[in-house]
Amino acid sequence: MNRLLVLYGSQTGSAQDTAERIGRQAQRRRMKVRVEALDDYGVANLISESLVVFVCSTTGQGDPPDNMKNFWRFLFRKSLPADSLCRLDYAVLGLGDSSYPKFNFVAKKLHKRLLQLGASALLPVGLADDQHDLGPDAVIDSWLAVFWEKALTLYPLPAGLSPLREDELPPHYIFNFLEDVPVKEAEQHRITEEPAPPSSVHPFLAKVVSNQRVTQPSHFQDVRQIEFDITGSNIKFGAGDVVMIRPCNASEDVEKFCQLLRLDSDRWFTLKSSSESSVPSRLPQPCSIRHLVESFLDIAAVPRRSFFELLATFATNELEREKLAEFSSARGQEELHAYCNRPRRTALEVLADFPHTTAELKVDYLLELFPEIQPRSFSIASSLLAQPNSIQILVAVVRYKTKLQKPRKGLCSSWLASLDPSQGDMFVPLWVKKGGLKFPNDLETPVIMVGPGTGVAPFRAALQERIALGRTANMLFFGCRSEAKDFYCRSEWEEMERAGHLKLFTAFSRDQFVAVSVLQEDKVYVQHRVKEQATLLWDLISNMGAFFYIAGNAKQMPTGVCDALKGVFQKEGGVSASQAQEMLDALEKSGHFQSETWS
Ligand code: 2AM
Repeated sequence: MNRLLVLYGSQTGSAQDTAERIGRQAQRRRMKVRVEALDDYGVANLISESLVVFVCSTTGQGDPPDNMKNFWRFLFRKSLPADSLCRLDYAVLGLGDSSYPKFNFVAKKLHKRLLQLGASALLPVGLADDQHDLGPDAVIDSWLAVFWEKALTLYPLPAGLSPLREDELPPHYIFNFLEDVPVKEAEQHRITEEPAPPSSVHPFLAKVVSNQRVTQPSHFQDVRQIEFDITGSNIKFGAGDVVMIRPCNASEDVEKFCQLLRLDSDRWFTLKSSSESSVPSRLPQPCSIRHLVESFLDIAAVPRRSFFELLATFATNELEREKLAEFSSARGQEELHAYCNRPRRTALEVLADFPHTTAELKVDYLLELFPEIQPRSFSIASSLLAQPNSIQILVAVVRYKTKLQKPRKGLCSSWLASLDPSQGDMFVPLWVKKGGLKFPNDLETPVIMVGPGTGVAPFRAALQERIALGRTANMLFFGCRSEAKDFYCRSEWEEMERAGHLKLFTAFSRDQFVAVSVLQEDKVYVQHRVKEQATLLWDLISNMGAFFYIAGNAKQMPTGVCDALKGVFQKEGGVSASQAQEMLDALEKSGHFQSETWS
């Protein structure tokens, strides 16, 4: 039988979903297929593969996703002979976002490297784009059409056989329901006692120590300062590192889901693989339906097209079948976008819109229908030197309106906000990862940190760490809307200032105050404060080798601050606009300018 390997590098799950979709398409073409994350695949075996599709997204500054980092290091080893992959036919499909400078960098680089190693490309690299009006599927569909044409020329369907229909495909997993409850539910949550630091497969279950709203109740945004106890976890981190947290679904969503699918959440099962895919190691065996739905299946995300493709195979109700078939087809993508993506409709809400089909869903297909809940990363806002056995984060609770009546909620931030330690012990699965920000080690080097809103989180960690180590040259620019409502951590900064460890500059963008009898009309942002401090900043950067940092989630903020900084170089250093840009580039290259931004 013809064999296809689909390998993916996926950060948020899109590339994985696409890879799994390709896997199903291959099964329909009667191929033997295996779909795997690049780092789960033994890369040395690549020399004996004949046909491989790589689906890779590009993250942040052109970096590969976490689950292909080892593969990436291996592939670029200088010692690999130039013809090591000469037997391999391959295709690379990239998932990226053209609003970032290094659009689909990983896919392009992978394509080049495979050619260098002697492999043959079946077709040009596919460059799917999140910015496309119809989403990445617009490119993926046409790329796949060409791919299948080429692949079937190489490996035609067996004589006399036609492709299978979607509903003829067997499930990848089989659920075996147990008659009894085998163990106490609490035992599902094992705390790792292993000496190895916690990871995504073995997270540490950290107890929530406190969960405090740090903005006034009258402020539009709920921001939480949350503290976790990591005693006994073997977790180590430094300023600039991030904590990964895998959220759970809200219990009312779990209930609703089980109701719609007519599932008993108290039933227990074991899971067996009936395909080449292995059973997810994160799922305990045996497992309860409640645990599966609550902590594994991403039912609160906007579903992807593959969800509709599979859902359509269960539809017996005429109306629902027609609609689902349209949403699965290439011509229905605009309508699907309007129904799902634009208003941010969740998979659970979609199920409620298709009640007949939902009631027909077979439990064996659950893991194919719903992607796994992905972990979210948060900049750590505390230092082990100042607060041993503790991780603190600052979380803005995500809530917004679309044309749908119910407000949209961010899964992780809403879940974290709901954990009230006064109601009993609450645990959060977490592990830590190296972050993008690095702070100087020597005592003398000053740091200038610009962190409006929750962007201040890594700088709180850095300040705690640096002060504990006796580094007192610290400058912080903090921005928020109002001095009275969302100036969080204020007393901490003031304490540091009093002790001579910090120079603080604030920008309150929505406060209307009378200064020298002039009413503040324009918004004041951190970049305005940066501009005002031109002489001081220039001295710190040009004479004292200061490090300059930006962190935060305002979309335009980093550009605004960079422009202000270049203005400082021009004004104080007497350089031209292009020379100021060159200076900034040089500072970035040497690590003296760093930024970490998120949306
Ligand atoms: P605003 O909401 O009044 O526009 C933290 O979110 C702070 O960052 C708020 O005071 C917010 O102001 C501000 N902010 C929004 N856009 C910004 C930008 N482009 N540059 C700097 N700060 C910004």
